[in-house]
Amino acid sequence: MKTLKLMTLTTVVAMLVAGFALISAAARAGNEQDFDAAATYKAKCVACHGAAAEKKFDATIADADLMQIVLKGKKGEKPPFMPAYEEKGINEEQAKALVAHMKSLKK
Ligand code: HEC
Repeated sequence: MKTLKLMTLTTVVAMLVAGFALISAAARAGNEQDFDAAATYKAKCVACHGAAAEKKFDATIADADLMQIVLKGKKGEKPPFMPAYEEKGINEEQAKALVAHMKSLKK
């Protein structure tokens, strides 16, 4: 009888833990979808690239390369250089969204 109760309790705790893990995973996924490229661009990129992405942005470079530059940075001839945003918490999806946003500004 006692073991049965203990097992039930363990099951309930395990289910709670699993449920919580699911909810927090869903919340994280939700945050990624909420990523606002326009707001991020205004906050972090506009100072160097300009309101219409008119500065230091060559839109003829392939998207995949532009995305890598956002993630890994790029050293030009003299500073200020393009910072690497991967280490600042920008992921591939977000880099892609930022590049798309910059292209839309340029048009
Ligand atoms: C400190 C200034 C600075 C900031 C801030 C900055 N960049 Fe850059 N970015 C540069 C420079 C410099 C280059 C390289 C230009 C060159 O010499 O080709 C560059 C290059 C790029 C490129 C490749 C295009 C090209 O012509 O080389 C992309 C895409 C880009 N930046 C996106 C971003 C995004 C997105 C942000 C914000 C998350 C950002 N940059 C913030 C300075 C900056």
